[in-house]
Amino acid sequence: MKELDIVGKSIDRPDARAKVSGRALYCDDLPSVSGLLYAGIIKSPVPAGRIKGIHIEDALSVDGVVDIVLAHHIPGKNLVPLIFDDWIVLADKEVRYAGEPIGVVVAEHPRALDIALNKVKVDIEPLPALLSPFDAMKPDARKINPRGNIFNHHKIRRGDVESGFAEADIVVEGEYQTGYQEHAYLEPLSLMAKPTPDQGMQVWGGMQCPFYVQSAVATVLGIALNKVEVIQTTTGGAFGGKEDVPSRFAGIVALAAWRSGRAVRLTFSREEDIVSTSKRHPSFSRYRIGARRDGRLVACTAEVIMDAGAYATLSPSVSWRATVHCCGPYRIPNVRVDVYAVATNKVPAGAFRGFGTPQVIFAMERVMDELANQLKMDPLELRRRNILRRGDTTVTGQRLPWSVGLGRTLQECAKKSNWKKRRKAAEQSTGTKKRGIGCATFLYGVGLGAAGRKIDRAEASVQVEGDGSVRFSVGTTEMGQGMESVLTQIVAEALGGISPGLVTMTEVSTSRVQDSGPTVASRATYMSGNALRIACSQILNRMRAVAGERLHIPASRVVVTGGRFKAGTEEIDFREIACECFERHVPLSARALYDSPPTSWDAETGQGKAYVVYSYATHIAEVEVDTETGIVSVLRFWAAHDVGKAVNPQLVEGQIEGGVVQGIGYALMESLLTANDGHILNPDFETYIIPTSKDIPEIYPIIVESPYPEGPFGAKGFGETPLMGCGAAIANAVSNAIGRPITRLPILPEDILALFKICSAPNR
Ligand code: MOS
Repeated sequence: MKELDIVGKSIDRPDARAKVSGRALYCDDLPSVSGLLYAGIIKSPVPAGRIKGIHIEDALSVDGVVDIVLAHHIPGKNLVPLIFDDWIVLADKEVRYAGEPIGVVVAEHPRALDIALNKVKVDIEPLPALLSPFDAMKPDARKINPRGNIFNHHKIRRGDVESGFAEADIVVEGEYQTGYQEHAYLEPLSLMAKPTPDQGMQVWGGMQCPFYVQSAVATVLGIALNKVEVIQTTTGGAFGGKEDVPSRFAGIVALAAWRSGRAVRLTFSREEDIVSTSKRHPSFSRYRIGARRDGRLVACTAEVIMDAGAYATLSPSVSWRATVHCCGPYRIPNVRVDVYAVATNKVPAGAFRGFGTPQVIFAMERVMDELANQLKMDPLELRRRNILRRGDTTVTGQRLPWSVGLGRTLQECAKKSNWKKRRKAAEQSTGTKKRGIGCATFLYGVGLGAAGRKIDRAEASVQVEGDGSVRFSVGTTEMGQGMESVLTQIVAEALGGISPGLVTMTEVSTSRVQDSGPTVASRATYMSGNALRIACSQILNRMRAVAGERLHIPASRVVVTGGRFKAGTEEIDFREIACECFERHVPLSARALYDSPPTSWDAETGQGKAYVVYSYATHIAEVEVDTETGIVSVLRFWAAHDVGKAVNPQLVEGQIEGGVVQGIGYALMESLLTANDGHILNPDFETYIIPTSKDIPEIYPIIVESPYPEGPFGAKGFGETPLMGCGAAIANAVSNAIGRPITRLPILPEDILALFKICSAPNR
């Protein structure tokens, strides 16, 4: 492969200076447009009920209130289009969770909102709320959602599990439970809409998926897509929480703007954000796994129930990803998996970094450790004997022809952590502070996979200016993960290794490129990166032809490297050729659509090529458990990730560090509580505890590169993986420390104390 000039280097983030200096404009910072109005959401006070009447007269008379908008005012459809068309914009006949939007108050100043919201009287006949998926699954349960309470049942049927278990020398079973996780992004949801003179709508906001928002706004207003322009503003974190959620609230804000003919902005407080937006699905799973004496896995069954909340939203897709990832990164000939996403009268659960996988990785990796105990085998050795390697076949029957770096992540992680020595030392720790070390190996299907095949494409446009500076546009978004840096580097490289300082990314707008799908599933690097690479090569070929004329050699023999066109010792700078092309009217812009390679899925057997490629990782956690207080401290964390190619190694390390911290929160502290009346009890950061700098252990990021030939310069997606194995590795480390099995996340101090019978197990 050609030596790379820019890809593989840790360049500075192009977005860093604006963000740290405060120049970056988040939606709520946008300069106030003339006549801007403020929106406040009328929310359901109960988790389930029939709406009998909505009394708005008193609220309308509050000074400054301009309008109150309800479902019957919607000119288009009361619908947020997503996987199933079950998600409404404003509740009209029925409310399905506490906090569900019923209407919107629109006022001249934000002060009027609270006063008016308190004066709106919603007359609701309460219905018995179904807060547990087990209750909602009962055949005679009241239907929460018109589609029924079981949104989907995904399966894998591979081989014959009965004869698989018959072959096993050891069979281990376990039941596992995980809780909600709140995204806790820094910037709460904020959206602004402004009507255009031609009966259209412009929308700004922090979001992952401008094209989802465009389609929601067009649907709600009943106007064509070309009348809706959605512009992403600087987004202060998302982690999946701004995947589908902005669609519903953009629909509401656009509706308010449509009726008043004025710009309207909605910005959530932290409490409102936590109450109103999606979270990671709580899960309940039952696993059974069988192995031969030598540790070879022969059979695995898994039954997983995911608490989806009142609307399906992304649950069909989240639970499908959980299905594919259910049995880990192992060779297992006999598999039966059943995953259900079930409706409850709670806020819809949705996307969160890992998208259904941290739950099943926790369960699978815990049961693997229990198996290792039974086999009296080192848990890392058990994994080494079973992990997928190049040429192997996954549990969905997909052969892996390339880019399987899992073995190397395991090896590197074991070596760097000194696994054997630490494990031995942990076993000898005595007293009330017990040390433990645990591991997890896992994979992640990059991109939307077979379930999202229809929307899995991305367009890019690249324009070289007459002075050799470059601007490019994509349809995927920067939300803090570093996409802008990575794509800037890919463009600089693909244009012949020019300085990244010459390259600028435009704002992301639905008007710049065609619908490029959502920015989710760790797909931005490889989808937009590939589209950019194709567009850049078109431009570079034209420039090369001009350079060939200047250098008196055929274009094909012009070498382009380091931002220079070369023939022997003669060379011409990229900017000079750009200038000449510009003067000679040689087209210097190009667009390209990258279409993801084919995938497949058989819904009955769960067999098929689920994803185009997988990223792989090994996590090792070392913990100390204080058996008197129940407090678990993570001391050290090793995370080895096969990313194909690290386009920007420092950003890869940053993603690993951030993901591990978020994973520590998931494993040890983040506990969102729902009261018996369906309300979230702790919607703030005083009571919903997330990690702070004091909780951060020594983190050792390890980069492994097993190139993906289809990816840009060998890169695969990896943004989500750093979080995914943390719950599992930490739980295994805690189990190792205290010699008792951990079966539930988060592992709170009271859970540890309950295991030592110092207190009773908390009810969650
Ligand atoms: Mo992501 S959790 O696929 O928005």
